[in-house]
Amino acid sequence: MFAKVVSGTPFGVEAKLVEVQCDVGPGLPGFSIVGLPEKEVSEARERVRSAIRNVGLPFPGTKITANLAPADLKKEGAGLDLALAVAVLVATEVIPAARTQGLAFYGELSLNGELRPVRGTLAVALAARQAGLAGLVVPEAVASEAALVEGLAAYPVRDLGQAVAFLKGEIAIEPRAREFPEGPPPEWLDLRLVRGQEHARRALEIAAAGGHNLLMVGPPGGGKSLLARCLPGILPPLSFEEALEVTRIYSVAGLLPPGQPLIRERPFRAPHHTVSYAGMVGGGHGVPSPGEITLAHHGVLFMDELPEFDRKVLEALRQPLEDRRITVVRAGVAVTFPASFTLVGAMNPCPCGHLGDPLRPCRCRPHEIVQYRKRISGPFLDRIDLFVQLPRLTKQELLGDGTGEPSQAVRARVTEARERQRARFARPRTNAEMGPGEVERLCPLVKEAKALLARAIDHFALTGRGYVRVLKVARTIADLAGADTIRAEHLAEALQYRAFEEGEL
Ligand SMILES: Nc1ncnc2c1ncn2[C@@H]1O[C@H](COP(=O)(O)OP(=O)(O)OP(=O)(O)O)[C@@H](O)[C@H]1O
Ligand SMILES: [Mg+2]
Repeated sequence: MFAKVVSGTPFGVEAKLVEVQCDVGPGLPGFSIVGLPEKEVSEARERVRSAIRNVGLPFPGTKITANLAPADLKKEGAGLDLALAVAVLVATEVIPAARTQGLAFYGELSLNGELRPVRGTLAVALAARQAGLAGLVVPEAVASEAALVEGLAAYPVRDLGQAVAFLKGEIAIEPRAREFPEGPPPEWLDLRLVRGQEHARRALEIAAAGGHNLLMVGPPGGGKSLLARCLPGILPPLSFEEALEVTRIYSVAGLLPPGQPLIRERPFRAPHHTVSYAGMVGGGHGVPSPGEITLAHHGVLFMDELPEFDRKVLEALRQPLEDRRITVVRAGVAVTFPASFTLVGAMNPCPCGHLGDPLRPCRCRPHEIVQYRKRISGPFLDRIDLFVQLPRLTKQELLGDGTGEPSQAVRARVTEARERQRARFARPRTNAEMGPGEVERLCPLVKEAKALLARAIDHFALTGRGYVRVLKVARTIADLAGADTIRAEHLAEALQYRAFEEGEL
């Protein structure tokens, strides 16, 4: 007999459906699988065979051939186990073929027949719904993840025996309810903890409000890392659509926390400076997996000790910083990952960290400082909207009771500024994402602001990109102030965040 059963396999942050075809016919006993890499074939074969036997069903003693179509699609073996077992059982008429119609199957089998979750369930569920399927049979542990997809029934199944009983109509299984449980409260640091650094706090607020990239420069122990870790706590919460996108990424990366089917908080990624190229942009063996910039999608990528990152890694960020996505090619497979994040960088002004410090002399030689700065290329710096210098904390700031404004209050202003942007663009979008045409159209300046900008172009020797960036930041500052047009004071403040480019640090 011949049988066809639907499954899926992660591909990038999406999934492709796979048709598992199975033929059981006369011939020497054997089980061959076509369409998977050699090693995965033998593993899948053993799991499927043992699982079927161990739930008390007969494994056919004839020739079994399974084909995983399309053959040229790179697949991940384990998630196809359940569909393979079901296909064998349909082909041997244990399960009626009609009962598998409109369903997809996704899960790994243990040798004893238990079902185990595999990465990418949400992506497979989305692909199944898109293909018009009615339901997806998955391991219990990930049923809530599959249930996030509206219009698709997610059937939780403990083991192969239960799946077979369900498909034979012997038992009923209720689809998992579509629920969005609250995760644990996020552990973002609160801006209340930050003493002084008013200028940097303000820059952080502007970065949050307009999605601008920020670079903080200052001596050790001044609060750069501290401030960066406060950023997620002042960003507005993810919309449901964004949450689903982020969840799909984490599911495909196998990083979804157990018991938390939906990620609701913005990601905060802080890769160490020794991160590899593939770790940062995506790649790895087999089908490319998402890197840090994709894991930071809709959130924050924090690069602490920026000049210590590998030059190649830094340069690789140039394209995604502009395009907000990255295409990774590996072994002939091209996969595009989303990568729309806010970059926050932190660095010392020089290798010893004390350049410009009034109390501690800098011990670096001039050429060492030049070398240090040169590790970050001009084009990379050109993609940063806000530069801010953090001075050392004063005695008063250190000794004072020093509680700053709490994150909650800042978040309220940021959310309001984002609302203004949403209304202007007629969709959720930030000022940082504006294209050149939009900047002209959406950043009207009052007369005095125009005059100020004209002077600034000369004074700061603004490049084309620098000019556009100042306008975008000024737009955000105006949005924070609730103003429709950009006034001189908004522009003047935006110009303050350009110092680094002019070599003033
Ligand atoms: N402005 C500040 N307000 C309150 N605490 C601070 C401040 N700056 C530093 N601290 C304290 O010092 C610790 C170290 O600060 P942080 O890691 O932010 O410094 P940094 O600027 O990143 O230094 P480095 O250049 O060495 O990385 C913080 O965890 C915090 O306890
Ligand atoms: Mg630090």
